[in-house]
Amino acid sequence: HNKYRPFTPVSKPDRRWPDQAITTAPDWCSVDLRDGNQALVEPMNAQQKLRLWDLLLSVGFKQIEVGFPSASSHDFAFLRQLIEEDRIPEDVTVQVLTQARADLIGRTFEALKGVRRAVVHFYNSTSTVQRRDVFKLDREGIKRIAVEGARLVKAEAAQHPETEWVFEYSPESFTGTELDFAVEVCDAVNSVLEPTPENPVIINLPATVEMSTPNVYADQIEWFCDHVTHREAIKISLHTHNDRGCAVAAAELGVMAGADRIEGTLMGNGERTGNMDIITMAMNLYSQGVDPKLDFGRMDEVIAVTRECTQLPVHPRHPYAGELVFTAFSGSHQDAINKCLARRSPDEPWDVAYLPIDPADIGRNYQEVIRINSQSGKGGVAYVLQRDYGLELPRWLQVDFSAAVQGLAESSESEVGSEAIYQLFTDTYLNS
Ligand code: KIV
Ligand code: ZN
Repeated sequence: HNKYRPFTPVSKPDRRWPDQAITTAPDWCSVDLRDGNQALVEPMNAQQKLRLWDLLLSVGFKQIEVGFPSASSHDFAFLRQLIEEDRIPEDVTVQVLTQARADLIGRTFEALKGVRRAVVHFYNSTSTVQRRDVFKLDREGIKRIAVEGARLVKAEAAQHPETEWVFEYSPESFTGTELDFAVEVCDAVNSVLEPTPENPVIINLPATVEMSTPNVYADQIEWFCDHVTHREAIKISLHTHNDRGCAVAAAELGVMAGADRIEGTLMGNGERTGNMDIITMAMNLYSQGVDPKLDFGRMDEVIAVTRECTQLPVHPRHPYAGELVFTAFSGSHQDAINKCLARRSPDEPWDVAYLPIDPADIGRNYQEVIRINSQSGKGGVAYVLQRDYGLELPRWLQVDFSAAVQGLAESSESEVGSEAIYQLFTDTYLNS
């Protein structure tokens, strides 16, 4: 461990963000088709991209980064298809990524020809390590790349006034950049772009690599918001990666610290350990009474399409989406869930032991909640017989019969389905 440097925390005695609750959803931007796609073993083909695009629209995304058209002919062709086949709804804005380089910016605008509205997202890396080892430039040299990028983007956009342009700038590897320098570069970019509250610029502050605990990232966001010029004319966007496993936490604390917008992906696909998972963050908001403005009511369809397009499995314990996350096998959990569900009236707020949200809200049914194996108890067995066969067992029978079910589960060393339970019940009490 002596190989690694200790992280220097942000000194911020006037910290405000821990007192903030998230009360409205941030603006979401899906980067599934760009950051997600570029990290896949087999990048999506045109058909898979269209499938995922349609899914993102049906979930309700209003901003979607569709690719890096100057770097990939496939991304270029996909964007042209969306524009030429008029597949972009009026209330949806496509976003494209480009490095802050003249040739790439020119090609990006070619790809965007004829689009109604677009976010042009340009970036260059600003971190100490990339300055030293990759670009071999000092601060001034790096700032010049960003400012020149802003000039080029603005000039290209001016040649296509038929399109409504929005500019986004990322000091890539923000988390490895000195905060004062990040502010200096973004101020310089904005002095070219001249944002106004009516025409804001998006400043995206990526945890390109997650390098600290999420509270430190939130401190960095708060410090940036407090020191950047023209905060009123800037949308602060977050783009967190999951290297330390805290991308969602960092995004949530970052919003509490003042950000307006979040970039992420479904199920967290993306470079290395992935981007921040929008499903988890959106459902976290939902479970606390905040409308996420994204609809995950048909979660199984979201999973099926994402899996088909990315060829990545979904972990059965993935928050909210996994197959097992609302399932209880253990007797005491089953008993508590049963009692809560039986007592609850439908018009009161959700407050059920072991179930953070109502599984019905993501399109799951109660069939999946209680499943029986050797860990299960009388409550679970009784619940299944009542739910599937309308049988109400008296308590003495529940105790007696659950021992038989447990015996069956132990000897078969597997889960026992509802039909096998009923069969055992009739064999034991009715046919003997
Ligand atoms: O992770 C990152 O920094 C990015 C940028 C290009 C925004 O994907
Ligand atoms: Zn990224």
